[in-house]
Amino acid sequence: MNPFSALFVGAGLLVLPVLSSNTETGPQGIHVRPVDGMDSRGLDGNRYVGQKVCKNCHSKPEKGEVHEKWSAGPHAKAFDVLASEAAKKIAKDMGIEDPQKSDQCLECHVTAFGVDKDLIKRGFKPSDGVQCETCHGPGEEHFKIRFKESQGGESTPVSAEEILNERDVATCTKCHNERSPTYKEFCFKERMAAIEHFDPRKERTEEELKKLRETCSPDCKKCAKEKEEEGKKGGD
Ligand code: HEC
Ligand code: HEC
Ligand code: HEC
Ligand code: HEC
Repeated sequence: MNPFSALFVGAGLLVLPVLSSNTETGPQGIHVRPVDGMDSRGLDGNRYVGQKVCKNCHSKPEKGEVHEKWSAGPHAKAFDVLASEAAKKIAKDMGIEDPQKSDQCLECHVTAFGVDKDLIKRGFKPSDGVQCETCHGPGEEHFKIRFKESQGGESTPVSAEEILNERDVATCTKCHNERSPTYKEFCFKERMAAIEHFDPRKERTEEELKKLRETCSPDCKKCAKEKEEEGKKGGD
């Protein structure tokens, strides 16, 4: 069964009142939606902390200006954009009064939609849009481990159990899909380039970077066409 249909049936009716009364600081959901990758990391109970926490350690040039790039990018505005004239028009045509209060829009325009309120820490703001933890998973454990480290604690390598760091198209197509009223064909390679935020502290060779940047979705028509044209030129 499509996980979204469960979400709608389960959360649609229940969540709405909570949402409209408490959009700012409040956890938006009472229905538990399994967060991809979380169970497999064995970190059940790991909570969402919000982008401000990440900013403490992931801004400044020597750390790749990751937070600065996110702030200036499309995802930081994902909630605000629901107040635009364009959003209101789309919503009106669908019989939705206020897109910023409708599950039908919030699902893809905020982080941790439908997640149990116990898994959301105070200070987390849905109005901050599609935040770091949308793609990296809840960050409480990572924050705790790295905070201890920064205070002189033991230094350990970051593991996939601690925080997700995968270039995987499925991370994006949860939202960038045909259910989006403004859907445009999704070329993973191209869109990933638009939000790229490598951390210079992670040492990589040019070859390794090139390989990462060339990753695309297997069914991307645009990349398939590019390859075909390269082939015709006899470049290979
Ligand atoms: C107390 C400091 C601190 C905070 C807060 C923090 N991080 Fe980190 N993070 C680090 C450090 C240190 C590294 C390792 C950097 C390196 O040397 O490559 C790291 C690495 C990462 C990585 C790369 C993991 C890998 O496999 O290499 C990701 C992704 C990440 N952080 C995301 C986040 C997100 C999302 C948040 C907010 C929820 C966050 N961080 C909050 C310190 C922090
Ligand atoms: C399935 C996920 C999903 C749902 C549901 C969704 N959106 Fe979006 N929305 C997106 C994505 C992804 C984008 C980025 C544009 C793109 O590439 O599709 C976007 C972009 C937008 C934009 C910016 C215009 C643009 O073309 O970039 C507006 C306005 C918008 N959405 C309004 C809405 C409204 C109103 C609703 C509810 C009726 C809604 N969306 C529901 C995923 C979704
Ligand atoms: C739309 C999804 C998305 C959002 C939002 C996002 N990231 Fe990432 N991030 C990724 C992906 C995918 C990677 C994997 C690295 C790659 O291959 O480019 C990554 C990589 C990273 C890395 C490791 C970089 C490296 O060199 O390996 C850090 C650190 C990081 N992100 C932190 C953050 C922080 C902090 C935020 C919020 C301010 C954030 N990310 C927001 C998808 C996202
Ligand atoms: C939780 C839903 C969600 C996820 C997951 C998500 N996005 Fe988005 N994305 C959006 C929304 C909503 C917008 C539109 C925001 C706006 O117009 O301000 C958007 C806009 C964008 C844009 C700018 C507009 C465009 O279509 O070119 C890019 C680039 C983008 N996303 C890349 C990615 C990539 C790459 C990933 C995966 C690593 C990803 N997104 C994952 C919801 C999401």
